[in-house]
Amino acid sequence: MHNRSAAITPAEYDSFKLFLQQACGILLGNGKEYLVSSRLSNIMKDVQVDSLGALLKLIQSPAQSRLKVQVIDAMTTNETFWFRDIGHYILLKDTILPDLNQQRGGSIRIWSAACSSGQEPYNISMIADEYQGLKASARPVQISATDISSKVLDEASAGVYCGLAVERGLTHEQQKKFFTPKERCLEVKPEIKRRVSFRSLNLTSSYQAMGKFDVIFCRNVLIYFSNELKKDIVDRMANILNPGGYLFLGSTESINQLTNRFEMKVGHGGISYRLKS
Ligand SMILES: C[S@@+](CC[C@H](N)C(=O)[O-])C[C@H]1O[C@@H](n2cnc3c(N)ncnc32)[C@H](O)[C@@H]1O
Repeated sequence: MHNRSAAITPAEYDSFKLFLQQACGILLGNGKEYLVSSRLSNIMKDVQVDSLGALLKLIQSPAQSRLKVQVIDAMTTNETFWFRDIGHYILLKDTILPDLNQQRGGSIRIWSAACSSGQEPYNISMIADEYQGLKASARPVQISATDISSKVLDEASAGVYCGLAVERGLTHEQQKKFFTPKERCLEVKPEIKRRVSFRSLNLTSSYQAMGKFDVIFCRNVLIYFSNELKKDIVDRMANILNPGGYLFLGSTESINQLTNRFEMKVGHGGISYRLKS
């Protein structure tokens, strides 16, 4: 077995870029060979290949579908934290949930479309919990949380957070209110977990089986995709939003140039996009 991998050749890099874009939409820019090497080095050691070309060859084989999943997992950026873009959560609690509660119907359905390790969908559930505490007759809230990475989905469904993952964004009061201690870590309380169901979904694939939603959180993921794919995703999300439903993008992402099916709503330090009727 070799301990050192060979440098990535331009042809290998181009083939890998194409593979990644076709598999999950992620666009790798030029000159990111170091990123690919560092993210794939453990996998390459495990499967005993010493070049990116050899790894690519291996994952083309149908018998290596698990390895392909591991490679995609390794190439995703899962950065997240509690109450990221706090303005979105304030908007949800102060404007959107009251608005949806004026409409008739069963559960309010919310989709966290690139949920990473679960902070986003659990935060939505915490907000729903607080809203329901204020308004006993509020409609129940159901949250579907999806991601392409099986590794983060496992962490998300466990709902146990340790060290820095707890500290990033949670006050002590929130830690006490929404978590129970588990060894040296914190576990999301069952009443917060029970609103959330996790499953694997590649945003480049069909949303047919997802049903209809009142609110979609699609934050900090479109940045990795081509403009063409961004447009396609936003359009297909609009198709599965109920009339007047809301879409959230990351605070550094813009809907301009992607679609004119939404109107921008600004308030409480956040922006939401409301589906035009
Ligand atoms: C930077 S995180 C954003 C997490 C969270 N939405 C937030 O704003 O904090 C991006 C997530 O998108 C996921 N992702 C990347 N490509 C995807 C795809 N094609 N389908 C579904 N999820 C994808 C990654 O696995 C990662 O967990």
